[in-house]
Amino acid sequence: MKNIVLIGFMGSGKTSVGKSVAEKLNMSFIDLDRWIEERETMSIKEIFDRKGEEVFRKIECEAVAEVGNQKNSVIATGGGVVLNPKNLESLKETGLLIHLRVDAQTAYKRTRDHHHRPLLNVPNPLQHIEALLKQRQPFYEVVPNAVETSGRSLRDVVEDVIRIYRSAKGVR
Ligand code: S3P
Repeated sequence: MKNIVLIGFMGSGKTSVGKSVAEKLNMSFIDLDRWIEERETMSIKEIFDRKGEEVFRKIECEAVAEVGNQKNSVIATGGGVVLNPKNLESLKETGLLIHLRVDAQTAYKRTRDHHHRPLLNVPNPLQHIEALLKQRQPFYEVVPNAVETSGRSLRDVVEDVIRIYRSAKGVR
């Protein structure tokens, strides 16, 4: 073992937590969305605008299969990766899945000043976040390891992730 794969809704902190965990454990950090952007030489927003969400999900699925070959890495996935059961199956093969939980208010606060997320460029983002989160909750909850991030510091979340990883590896 094994990579660490961070799963969670937009604004759950996968990128900040992932970077910090990778640094502390001397692992590489891979952001699946950046991987996709490099592969497609287009931003996620442009992919959604020009090709649509369905094509994005197909590309995302291919990228998931590709990152599976990476070693000693912390992989931050996009919030919708759980929508395709195939993705979770292949991510499980490559690393320890950890779900970063977030509530709707916190996700809203953390994302409202950023405009690169096509799904949140809507007239009422908080309402949309609530609806999407509710719809996706059952998909996130299949991940056995979870860490709450709402109302918690980055440091505490990072510590929890490292503790879960070490205990899964049988290291103290
Ligand atoms: C998405 C989340 C985004 C990105 C795309 C779709 C989603 O990633 O993959 O905009 O469906 O939740 P982040 O969770 O890193 O924002």
